[in-house]
Amino acid sequence: MINKIVLPYPVDALEPYYSKETLVLHYDILYSGYVDNTNKTEEKLSAARRENNFENIKCLEKDLSFYGSGVILHEMFFKNMGIPIPSNPNISLMEQINIDFGSYEKFKNQFTESSKVVEASGWNLLVWVPRFKKLEILQCEKHQNLTLWGCVPLLVLDMWEHSYYLQYKTKRIDYINAFWNIINWNEVNKRWDSIM
Ligand SMILES: [Fe+2]
Repeated sequence: MINKIVLPYPVDALEPYYSKETLVLHYDILYSGYVDNTNKTEEKLSAARRENNFENIKCLEKDLSFYGSGVILHEMFFKNMGIPIPSNPNISLMEQINIDFGSYEKFKNQFTESSKVVEASGWNLLVWVPRFKKLEILQCEKHQNLTLWGCVPLLVLDMWEHSYYLQYKTKRIDYINAFWNIINWNEVNKRWDSIM
């Protein structure tokens, strides 16, 4: 079970840039709903495992990514705002911004332009991509795209057709069952240990 975070500032602290009325609605009603629904979804998933009934697994995992990502992104959003006194990226972040975007101004321009074209309900994010060792700006439609932001993959199975169709044709389940015989848990353990 997850609990709501406490706002790190009073509800009128962001005035006049972000009104008290907007913040109260956003935090008390919308964000609370994401927390409650994430907990409800976790309970339903727990019941499904207990009863060995995975009839609704696709829907439940979609709900988990939607509500859970709503929780995570809203908490980052609330925390990455603060009372309007000047602050700046620290030396190492500024260095990386300069390397990856050319300058702070260029980063700011890209982030602003990118935010302007986020379609309908969505987010704009500055992210660090460990594999590329690079800062990037990404838009996200809704909250989730079937993931939970900040999660660390441990074990993955490629379910694109190219990964099984040549051998298994439409028998996806045979491919999935076969996979259990060839998992290298030593590698998974290594990933697990690296984050613990
Ligand atoms: Fe929101």
